[in-house]
Amino acid sequence: MPGVVSRSYAHQTTKAMPGVVSRSYAHQTTKAMSGVVSRSYAQQTTKAMPGVVSRSYAQPATTASAGRQTTKAMPGSRLWRDKSMPGALSKNYAHRAAKLLREGTIYLQKKKISEPKLNCEWILAKALNMERLALLINPDTLVNKADTDKFKKLMALKAERAPLSYIFKEHNFMGFSLFLNRSALIPRPETEELVELVLTRARKIKKNKIKILDFGTGSGCIALALAKSLKNCKLTAVDKSKRALKCAEKNIKKFQQEKKIKLFCASKVSELSGKFDLIVSNPPYIPSTVIGNLDEEVQFEPKMALDGGMDGLKIVKEIIKEAPKILLKGGRVFLEIEENQSGILPSLINKEIWSEIVFHKDYNNKQRFLELVLK
Ligand SMILES: C[S@@+](CC[C@H](N)C(=O)[O-])C[C@H]1O[C@@H](n2cnc3c(N)ncnc32)[C@H](O)[C@@H]1O
Repeated sequence: MPGVVSRSYAHQTTKAMPGVVSRSYAHQTTKAMSGVVSRSYAQQTTKAMPGVVSRSYAQPATTASAGRQTTKAMPGSRLWRDKSMPGALSKNYAHRAAKLLREGTIYLQKKKISEPKLNCEWILAKALNMERLALLINPDTLVNKADTDKFKKLMALKAERAPLSYIFKEHNFMGFSLFLNRSALIPRPETEELVELVLTRARKIKKNKIKILDFGTGSGCIALALAKSLKNCKLTAVDKSKRALKCAEKNIKKFQQEKKIKLFCASKVSELSGKFDLIVSNPPYIPSTVIGNLDEEVQFEPKMALDGGMDGLKIVKEIIKEAPKILLKGGRVFLEIEENQSGILPSLINKEIWSEIVFHKDYNNKQRFLELVLK
């Protein structure tokens, strides 16, 4: 296809855990970002936090989830009486960490939770407010009643298949710890790559103020990562979901980026005015009919963040159609897409309007990003 270039991004592949697709990104990185995004975040921690799955709909549901009915609600008190819950029957509440880890792993195994040991380690470390590795090298740590109860509460949520990022109400994105709840999508590793792509281009723009639109901001992860990394930028972050915008607002305040990022509630690009140098979006791109078949953990996420309409391309098409009206000459659009969509998209893009149409590959060698340059 003339004008369509496939470019492989030569990144170092992050080590995925066995049998897990795209889970290698949810590292618990301790170092906070100060102004500049750390490039080393992908290599810093030894073991990834489990339970965050790729949004790619090509991924089959896990065996554990097959045939199981999804519970959307967070669990109530039922599991508190669960006899298999670690420490449930003990009258002596001072446990050793090793015992809780052992019993907790068995408990999650019985609940058919994948990677039960790793999940249990993360949860106990969280309950004890310890680093996971510190917990592992101190198995004799005594756990009091309050912390045992906290551990059990978090384990009950995991047993219901809630993703750890929602259980902990935080998620590590590009080395910084975002506040997160069920109103916003759990940011994916591919989106960190999208941000890197945008940063590479943005750093070449010699301007006092680079104007960037983040369409479908969710938790605000993309806007925040850009704002923290680029001194000379102004961001407009838009979402249709008022609840997601609240989450983004909390993060913007947390990282004191109020001056650089302005939030707006809108459901169409055509509702926006102004001119931008760059538009970036990780839109919902999963076909409506596929969502129900996705992994159970994904079902905890807002449908609005996943559902891309019949063909998955509803928002993608709208952005491509409307972007020229709000882009400056030579401006660029960056979109995260599903791999399969790179086949159909070139036929939907007007070569009279766009001078470059480039697909970029992710670390897994899949075409996951579309870059367009306005003539
Ligand atoms: C895939 S999530 C991306 C969230 C975040 N940017 C990220 O990368 O993790 C898509 C976001 O788009 C929002 N959204 C869905 N339809 C929209 C629309 N028509 N207009 C604006 N935002 C929309 C959803 O609420 C959701 O927050």
